[in-house]
Amino acid sequence: MVQRIRSEFLHLNAHQSAHLAATELPAEIPRNRLPDQGLAADLAYELIHDHLMLDGNARLNLATFVGTWMEPQARRLMEECAEKNMIDKDEYPQTAELEERCLRMLAELWHAPDPSAAVGTSTTGSSEGCMLGGLVMKWHWRQRQQAAGADSSRPNLVMGANTQICWDKFCAYFDVEPRLVPLSHDRLHLSGEEAVKRCDAHTIGVVGIVGSTFDGSYEPIDGIQAALDQLQQRSGLDIPIHVDAASGGFVAPFNSPNWSWDFRLPRVVSINSSGHKYGGVLPGVGWVLWRNQAQLPEELRFNVNYLGGELPTIGMNFSRPGAQVVGQYFNFLHLGRQGYTHRMAVLEAIACHLADGIAALGPLRLVSHPLGQLPVFAVERDPGISHWDVFQLSDKLRERGWLVPAYTLPADCEDRAVLRFVVRAGFSRDMADQLLEDIERAVDWFQGLEAPMPQSLRGPGFAHL
Ligand SMILES: Cc1ncc(COP(=O)(O)O)c(C=O)c1O
Repeated sequence: MVQRIRSEFLHLNAHQSAHLAATELPAEIPRNRLPDQGLAADLAYELIHDHLMLDGNARLNLATFVGTWMEPQARRLMEECAEKNMIDKDEYPQTAELEERCLRMLAELWHAPDPSAAVGTSTTGSSEGCMLGGLVMKWHWRQRQQAAGADSSRPNLVMGANTQICWDKFCAYFDVEPRLVPLSHDRLHLSGEEAVKRCDAHTIGVVGIVGSTFDGSYEPIDGIQAALDQLQQRSGLDIPIHVDAASGGFVAPFNSPNWSWDFRLPRVVSINSSGHKYGGVLPGVGWVLWRNQAQLPEELRFNVNYLGGELPTIGMNFSRPGAQVVGQYFNFLHLGRQGYTHRMAVLEAIACHLADGIAALGPLRLVSHPLGQLPVFAVERDPGISHWDVFQLSDKLRERGWLVPAYTLPADCEDRAVLRFVVRAGFSRDMADQLLEDIERAVDWFQGLEAPMPQSLRGPGFAHL
């Protein structure tokens, strides 16, 4: 490879510009130290391109929730916007307008009482949306405590142990005690009953997830609201809900339109979602919305008057790519309600086909089923089998290029190891059948072993949570 580059380089050197002639190909490719002299753009491209060839194939990646496919027209638009900075609303008012349109569409989709009064922002992803949602709840709680002359130094946040890592980060970064509700073998996510047991006067809010990162299930946001209503009747505590709809914000409105999980529930003050998950955009764009202006304190918005009107700037980042926001608007325009509904129905059908096919093999059983939840499910090994495990199955599938993560469930179900399948746009029924064949072949291989797999080869392969 280096030899090829060297000869190509020498060829360029002999015939091309003084710029290239001034560039020396280093004996070694610089890895950890800024090279003294640069390479020609063509050579740098080829080196890096070749380096990246060993990455996994994004389309065979059933680990990630993040979009790996978009229509070519969307990619072209995003390429056209590659240099636009989302924060430059003054310079790129048309892009800023598309962000506003997306926010209004989401406010309507998530049933804000008055979509034009909802307030929100695009973000880099759901993590940033969760940080902002959590911070605003903390802000309101502190105001209430101070107004009542009560202690405002020990805030806590109640959520299931299955929440995504961004909530651990939120609690660590912003000094909030995480009150994690452990799972049980017959309840793999938060319930209203368990949530209220951990709530007290220092609870800034409850986080409900639509749907769970671990198994794709929807948490009962309506049940959590009902339990919090009863708590308020008993104790006077008025505790809000933030819905982390990182994945479900673009799925539940289409596959469960009659289920109230969003602003239809009065306790839901804010919702985040990832445009780059089931919103169908390549990474990274997310969204966070508050039900109305009153929910977002003045102190946390930084108003600018570009575009002739007052626009709140809320996000944590300043500079951010505008292209993804444009990609989101493309999807809204191109798919519309009907297109998203169709897409989610197709993904659900493919995920159900895959889940049922895997369950029919015998040695694996379903931990969750994708029907009526995210097109995501987890499986575990039948308890009667002990001579191989899901980590080894995950490795075996990787030999064929499939990326299917294996991991243990969170507290109190750490003794259960699962494989998780995330079905996204771009994963066809054909691919599902191919994957089923490969799983069957791998499982047959393990089942045919005369001795157990060596213990030393067991253990977590890779997890993607
Ligand atoms: C429920 C949930 N919340 C938050 C996140 C973080 O989202 P992002 O990767 O967009 O920051 C994820 C990511 O998978 C998630 O599943």
